[in-house]
Amino acid sequence: MKKIMLSNKLEVSEVALGAMNFGTTTSKEESYRVLDAYVDMGGNFIDTSNNYAHWQGTGDESETLLGDWLRDRGGREKLVIATKVGFDRHGEGAGLRREQIEYWIDESLRKLGTDYIDLYYAHSDDMNTPIEETLEAFDRLVEKGKIRALGSSNFDTWRLAEANMTAESKGLTRYSVMQQKFTYLHPKFSAAPRYAFNEAVNRERLRYLVAKDMPLVAYSCLCKGAYESDSRLPADYDGGERLALVRRMAEERGVNPSAIVIAWLTQLYRCEGFPRVIPVFSSSSRHLADNMRGIEIRLSDDEMKMMNETR
Ligand SMILES: NC(=O)c1ccc[n+]([C@@H]2O[C@H](COP(=O)([O-])OP(=O)(O)OC[C@H]3O[C@@H](n4cnc5c(N)ncnc54)[C@H](OP(=O)(O)O)[C@@H]3O)[C@@H](O)[C@H]2O)c1
Repeated sequence: MKKIMLSNKLEVSEVALGAMNFGTTTSKEESYRVLDAYVDMGGNFIDTSNNYAHWQGTGDESETLLGDWLRDRGGREKLVIATKVGFDRHGEGAGLRREQIEYWIDESLRKLGTDYIDLYYAHSDDMNTPIEETLEAFDRLVEKGKIRALGSSNFDTWRLAEANMTAESKGLTRYSVMQQKFTYLHPKFSAAPRYAFNEAVNRERLRYLVAKDMPLVAYSCLCKGAYESDSRLPADYDGGERLALVRRMAEERGVNPSAIVIAWLTQLYRCEGFPRVIPVFSSSSRHLADNMRGIEIRLSDDEMKMMNETR
């Protein structure tokens, strides 16, 4: 699998594995199967959070399961582990205050059984805490060697710009990766995001990422399985011509539609106006290998143009 440099220090595989459901709706055995298969295919970039998946359990399950797997399999240093702080867990944990960051990093390190996190995300913005307080807390973690790089998720673009300008003016670590909802289908303009911050990527966000040469880690990029099955289409997305096109292209190539979406996402950087995109997706072992065929598909310039121009 191809590798990409993030923030000049993390060499990550071109697709990341989402660990959100590990230990809750995905059993330990199945989670191990998926993790082992992903690593066997050359993947090294694993995405979790300090609150996954609290809506199905306590919120400790995903990191704890990953910690067990890391202990059982070894090879921690070959992997790039991303986790997150600042999102709600059963009414606690939301926010990016200094003491919250200091508490939750140690919890994540403990559960994962590691002494550093490669990529630490602010999971969502905190408008009530001064930006400097948050950045200084993160910067201290970098200095202590507890985290290697910083990412943001679910920030409005203007807030991220403000934070990174603050970081630069004060000589603090900046957010160098954005994680945001992005897929090939268009979100419905009329649909309010489920949470205020849970906004899908739009043109303005893409322009910002290109201008700042920042990579996008695209979450929910398989649209929860909607490319394969209409019944899985989330209410805030349109299927329409784009869905039909992906399915047609998949049939012509003899692959599944999600593989076409992964091919499109990983090759978007070739098109003007798009940043480097790293898809992060969840798959059962039943779908993983089929989806991964996407990284072997080379889409022609004409195909990329057609996909981009389809409404
Ligand atoms: N930063 C954030 O706020 C945020 C928010 C959400 C998610 N994330 C991250 O992004 C990762 C992925 O997000 P996600 O789980 O929301 O979305 P996703 O990857 O778009 O969707 C996963 C769902 O798609 C199904 N699927 C995948 N391939 C399929 C195929 N070939 N055929 C049929 N169904 C298929 C999976 O079913 P099977 O299990 O049956 O394969 C699973 O139910 C998470 O694990 C997490 O790490 C981050």
